[in-house]
Amino acid sequence: MHLTAASELPLRALSTLFARAFEGYFVTVPDAPVLFDARVRTEHISLEDSRVARVEGEPVGLVLMARRGRVSRVAGMGVLPVWRNRRLGGAMLRPLMDEARARGDARMVLEVIEQNAPAVALYTRLGFQRVRRLVGFSGALGPESAESTPALVAVGKGDFARPLPEGLPTSELEEVDPGECARLLPEGLPWQLAPATVAGLSLPARAFRLGPAVAVLADIAAPSLGLRALGVAAEARGQGAGRRLLHALAARWPGKPFTVSAVVPEDRSARFFEKAGFTQTALTQLELALSFAP
Ligand SMILES: CC(C)(COP(=O)(O)OP(=O)(O)OC[C@H]1O[C@@H](n2cnc3c(N)ncnc32)[C@H](O)[C@@H]1OP(=O)(O)O)[C@@H](O)C(=O)NCCC(=O)NCCS
Repeated sequence: MHLTAASELPLRALSTLFARAFEGYFVTVPDAPVLFDARVRTEHISLEDSRVARVEGEPVGLVLMARRGRVSRVAGMGVLPVWRNRRLGGAMLRPLMDEARARGDARMVLEVIEQNAPAVALYTRLGFQRVRRLVGFSGALGPESAESTPALVAVGKGDFARPLPEGLPTSELEEVDPGECARLLPEGLPWQLAPATVAGLSLPARAFRLGPAVAVLADIAAPSLGLRALGVAAEARGQGAGRRLLHALAARWPGKPFTVSAVVPEDRSARFFEKAGFTQTALTQLELALSFAP
């Protein structure tokens, strides 16, 4: 097996290789050059630093490497099904770890589906350590769920709650740039929720503001509302602004449930979605990191 720079292949060929390397995966990875290109742009993947694994010249695997500041991130790696479990994974990733260390990066990070035993085994063997668990959600809001669950908004830090205001304020929804949401997000979030990622989201992703809260939806034409990010101004947190925005979005696109991918840290942010009445989805991710500190 030898490795070549991913930049040697056209983006469309990389999209096809990526889809084939993720065959039989937990979620469908389509061969869609437009989505692959969006992934490369928003996640800051360097195709020059990413690698195609080849056996007798033929591509058998791919490692996508993203870079920001002094942090590298494995943005996806996969091996064609017939080549799995032959120790290619380590042989593909180890040289990239050496390169990152040599260029002066502070650490390498990645997220792996917790139930993906071969991948967790591989990264653990290479020395990656658990940072935290990331969870996802689904949920439907709106008139029906409002009847079964009293529409209450948490106010302040305690359990004190008050009803949602009469009439859902959908007309006050204002479309804004995703950068507006990015500005409201704290530092220290996982890569896909980091302000630098969210600021780079482009159509079909669209951002909507209600008061001090801004949400980014992946694609309003999709059957469900994929919530890509949600930020509330620091001074307005804990007063129901995020919740009101979710209800306004639900009322604007009635009948569409929300989905949130497993990128939400299992801490305060996860509690927000639970309180909003969302259900945690079965797939969870682990955020792992490898420090290059001496
Ligand atoms: C994850 C992946 C890239 C690993 O590449 P690989 O070449 O198969 O990896 P390796 O052969 O070096 O290591 C696989 C490890 O998984 C272990 N493994 C395989 N099947 C397993 C299972 N069902 N349960 C537990 N461990 C398993 C192997 O024993 C090996 O661990 P070990 O070296 O400690 O014995 C590859 O399996 C793949 O392409 N999977 C589909 C895409 C994917 O999941 N990508 C990762 C996304 S983060």
